[in-house]
Amino acid sequence: MPQLNKNLENVSVPGTRQMANRVADMPDSIDLTLGQPDFTTPQVIKDEVTTAVKDRQMKYTHNRGTLELRTAISNFYQKKYLAPYDPKDEIIVTNGGSEALDTIFRTIINPGDEVIMFAPIYTGYAPIVTLLGGETVLLDTAPAQFVPEADQLAQAITDKTKAVLLNYPNNPTGTIYPRGTLDALVHVFKKHDIFVVVDEMYSENTLEGEHFSLTSYPEIRDRLLTVNGLSKSHAMTGWRIGWLLGSREMVEKLTLVHLYNSLCTSTPSQIAGYTALTEAPDAPRVMNEEYVKRRDYIYQRLSEMGLDAVLPKGAFYIFPSIKRYNESSFDFAVDLLEKTQVAVVPGAAFSKYGEGYIRISFATSMENLKEAADRMEQYLTMER
Ligand SMILES: Cc1ncc(COP(=O)(O)O)c(C=O)c1O
Repeated sequence: MPQLNKNLENVSVPGTRQMANRVADMPDSIDLTLGQPDFTTPQVIKDEVTTAVKDRQMKYTHNRGTLELRTAISNFYQKKYLAPYDPKDEIIVTNGGSEALDTIFRTIINPGDEVIMFAPIYTGYAPIVTLLGGETVLLDTAPAQFVPEADQLAQAITDKTKAVLLNYPNNPTGTIYPRGTLDALVHVFKKHDIFVVVDEMYSENTLEGEHFSLTSYPEIRDRLLTVNGLSKSHAMTGWRIGWLLGSREMVEKLTLVHLYNSLCTSTPSQIAGYTALTEAPDAPRVMNEEYVKRRDYIYQRLSEMGLDAVLPKGAFYIFPSIKRYNESSFDFAVDLLEKTQVAVVPGAAFSKYGEGYIRISFATSMENLKEAADRMEQYLTMER
C-alpha cells in the first residue's frame, strides 16, 4: 500500500465517539455522551425546505453561500454584537462549524506552526492541526475554574505561534468567559502578530449571564476568525450549516480553500439556515429554558454524590471531578458503563488536562437524567 499522510499516524477516533459507539449496542443504556440537542429542528424550517425542494431548482450557490443567508448572518452579528461583517465578502457559509475550522486551519497553518489552545478542549481541533504538520500547545485552565488567564497566554506565545484558539461557551466544561477575561486576552493578542480563532458554536446556548463575542473588539478584527453555526442553537446538527467571519482580505483566501473543498454548502440546507435565522430566532431561548432545569437538577444530584463541578453557564455539558476515586477517567467511565449502563465521556478525551473529570451531557430528557443519576448514586455507594 502506498504511504499515507504520515501525520495521520498521530490522529485517532475521538474519545467522545468511542464511548458513543460502545453504548450503541447496549439495551437499557442511558447515553449521556451526546453532543447534540435532543430537540427536533423547528417545524417552520422543515416546512420551508420541503416547499423549496418541491418548487425550486437546487443548483450550486455562490461559493460563499447564498447572499440572503449571508445577509441574515450579517444582520445577526450586527444586531447582537454591533459587529459589522459585510455579507458580500466577509462571511462564508460552511458545512457546519467543522468545515469552518478545517478551512481556517488549512488557510493559516504551515508545518511546524504552533496553535495555542486552552484545555480541557473539544476533540475536533488538534487533529486538524496535526494533519497539517502543526503543533498544538495546550494551556491548563482547570486551576482557574476552566477560565483562561492572560498571563498564562502571554508566557506561552513564541516565534512559532501562529494562532490562539478559544472556545466559549466551552465544550466540555460549560464555562463562559467573562468580559474582563476577554479584555485581558485581547490586550495580549494586540501585542503579537498572531491569528485569533474563536469557536462560538454554543453562543446561543448561554444559560446564564451574557455571551461576549470577540467580534465586538474592532482592535483585533483584522486577524480574528470567528466560527459559529446552527447545529446547537437550532437543533440542526444534521443539516450541516455553519459559517466563518473574517476580514475581507482573509475571507478572500479562506474562500479559495473552502471552494476547492466543497464548492458550496448544500442548497436546501442553506434555505433551512436562512429560515432558522429569520423565522425561528427564539428557538434557542425555548431550548435553553429546558437546559437550565436539567442543569440545575444534575448539578444538585452530582454535588449530593460528592462529585463537585463548576456550574456550567453555557452549552449543555457538566464536567464533574472524579479525582477522589483515584482512577483514570477512562477506567471510571468504562466501569460505570459496564455496571450501570450509564455512558459518560472520560475527561481525558478532552486532552490530558481533562484527566480526573467526566463529561455529562444534559441534552437528554429529564427522565433519563433522573434515572442516570439514581444509577450513578447507587454505583458510587457500592463497594468499589
Ligand atoms: C465546540 C464545538 N465546535 C464545533 C463543533 C462542530 O459543529 P458542527 O456540527 O456545526 O460541525 C462542535 C460539535 O460538537 C463543538 O462542540
